[in-house]
Amino acid sequence: MPESRPDRITSLAQLKAATMACRECPIGEFATQSVTGEGAPRARLMLVGEQPGDQEDLQGHPFVGPAGKLLARALEAADVPRERVFVSNAVKHFKFELRGKRRIHKSPTQREAAACLHWLEDEIALVRPVALVALGATAARSLLGRAVPVMAERGHWLPRPDGRQVLVTLHPSALLRVADAQARHAAFEAFVADLRHARRVVRG
Ligand code: URA
Repeated sequence: MPESRPDRITSLAQLKAATMACRECPIGEFATQSVTGEGAPRARLMLVGEQPGDQEDLQGHPFVGPAGKLLARALEAADVPRERVFVSNAVKHFKFELRGKRRIHKSPTQREAAACLHWLEDEIALVRPVALVALGATAARSLLGRAVPVMAERGHWLPRPDGRQVLVTLHPSALLRVADAQARHAAFEAFVADLRHARRVVRG
């Protein structure tokens, strides 16, 4: 049993404290703090991203930076109230590379995401969502236990071994990287269309 892991995680506060101390992979040592999921504590829908970004790392909350703002806009357009969902990440610490004073996002390795998986599973066990949304490839792999071709599977529900369905879509930061304004608008509309599939879960 890894040192930072209590026998059983029984609350989100305990999860936060345990992840703060987690050094099961090298990322935690360099991050400001861990960032665990937030939202409705008994949400029927959980959205899972990759890892906290620069702003999330500094503020200690998930999806508060540019990708989070885009996600909030898309949820609103899809008629999925953000206050009724739970938002988290596959990896609980920010991984970055220093370029001068700038901290540049670096994707976690498969091994790092695998080391963090038990925290995500603890979170799922605590919130007990009916279904989840995987935002991008890292989240899809963690939630489904296998590599998922996101572009081919986007907008589809895929089953987890525990029976929960996972809606696969892109990570919002992929949309932020689309340079052409028209293409970015089309990508946003397609993202909203994916998220609309999750509306019925939230409504119950
Ligand atoms: N990207 C993520 O995957 N998660 C966040 O919390 C912020 C950006």
